Amino acid sequence: MRKDLLGLKDLSAQEIKNILDTAKSMKSIIENPKKKTPHLQGKTVVNLFYENSTRTRLSFELAAKYMSANAANITASGSSVQKGETLIDTAETINAMGTDILVMRHNMSGAPHLISKIVDASVINAGDGMDEHPTQALLDMLTMLEHFDSLEGKKVAIIGDITHSRVVRSNIYGLKKLGAEVVVGGPATLMPAGIEDMGVKAYTTIQEAIIGADIVMGLRIQLERQKKGLFPSIREYYRFFGVDDDLMKLAKPHAILMHPGPVNRGVELSTSLIDGEKSVIVNQVTSGVAVRMAVMYMLSIGGFN
Ligand code: CP
Repeated sequence: MRKDLLGLKDLSAQEIKNILDTAKSMKSIIENPKKKTPHLQGKTVVNLFYENSTRTRLSFELAAKYMSANAANITASGSSVQKGETLIDTAETINAMGTDILVMRHNMSGAPHLISKIVDASVINAGDGMDEHPTQALLDMLTMLEHFDSLEGKKVAIIGDITHSRVVRSNIYGLKKLGAEVVVGGPATLMPAGIEDMGVKAYTTIQEAIIGADIVMGLRIQLERQKKGLFPSIREYYRFFGVDDDLMKLAKPHAILMHPGPVNRGVELSTSLIDGEKSVIVNQVTSGVAVRMAVMYMLSIGGFN
């Protein structure tokens, strides 16, 4: 039994595969003109977001609605958080209204873990500080598996702001469990000490990271989490660490380009790459709805086994 999805660190390879298999079948529902199933009929899903979001929040909401759940959204900026209510009191209030699934994004690492111990509702981590963003990594893996039969032995190069990225941490946990080789590349000032202890190779020139990659994933520069002075300017960042067509040629000929979004055009990736034939960034968004449908449905019936 699993009540919550807090991170991929705690999931087994088999649980990850089971979620991805279920998500594959959920894609057919999204492609169906009716887009309605009874998987979550009678259940209530609440999105509680303390940080901005477009794709994660909307995809959880749509996923819940496609599966016939009652779905509601609450953001810190429009709630009693502004009047000084604590996170625990807010979560208990939402729980007391008959919520079955609480989807949470918070700027503090560990916030969903804390709340999961307090509420009966299933808690899904939609991004906590610099810790994890498990459904993002699951949707990334689902998208990769639409291009490759297996991730075993595939080289995934993740480029950018490694220190502040919860996406990179969840991807490392998940991809390693599915047998991929993961390398990270970015400025030394945005490369956390000890990252190689997670079983990845770290490079401070992105050329070395990208050579021979099957998958290249850019990451957003997280200016909201950074202290000042970690790189001289956006222009200089792009010159040394932005991925463009020439750099992409260092990857394997069949390589795909990914980014979790939102993307800063001309900073992390060139516009021609984002809109080019190697880009699967839009496919990632569609995979996000399918993965969130799978995760919510599986939690509602007891977990991922
Ligand atoms: N990838 C991602 O988490 O995007 P949002 O911040 O728009 O949800």
